[in-house]
Amino acid sequence: MMIPQPVMDKLNQQIANEFGAAHNYLAMACRFDELGLKMLSQWFFRQGEEEREHGRKILNYLLETGAKVSLQATPAPSGDIDNPLAIVRAALEQEKEVTRQINEIAATAEQHKDFATRSFINWFIDEQVEEVSTMTELLNLVELAGENHLLQVEMRVAKMMVAPH
Ligand SMILES: [Fe+2]
Ligand SMILES: [Fe+2]
Repeated sequence: MMIPQPVMDKLNQQIANEFGAAHNYLAMACRFDELGLKMLSQWFFRQGEEEREHGRKILNYLLETGAKVSLQATPAPSGDIDNPLAIVRAALEQEKEVTRQINEIAATAEQHKDFATRSFINWFIDEQVEEVSTMTELLNLVELAGENHLLQVEMRVAKMMVAPH
């Protein structure tokens, strides 16, 4: 099966975007660990793992369809964010940006009548709805708690981590 070149380019770029997101989450997880917020740290480490899986999912799709995999560089994470609220805000912004990237892939696939990729990318469209929703929930919690009650956020995050989602 032949994936049109512009779609292939976007998918290859998205592998790097997902790995870049993973890298950012890892950096954020380390900040939380340094701040003593161990549950938030674990949550962000897990987010990082999920982003790597997303990258792998796209990579596998390219292999499955006989498309050419060409791995792109992932940018270094921005290292200057160190307060919890700013970190979660940046994480939500990242999820919104990924949503835009995924929508672009869907639009490009449609434009080139590549219905296989258009169908494949649906999983990611649904995933982004969940990712943006969950991160918005976390941001609301951190805003509500304020700097003095982050330990309560830790308890909520611990509960969210055992709940199936
Ligand atoms: Fe992702
Ligand atoms: Fe994500």
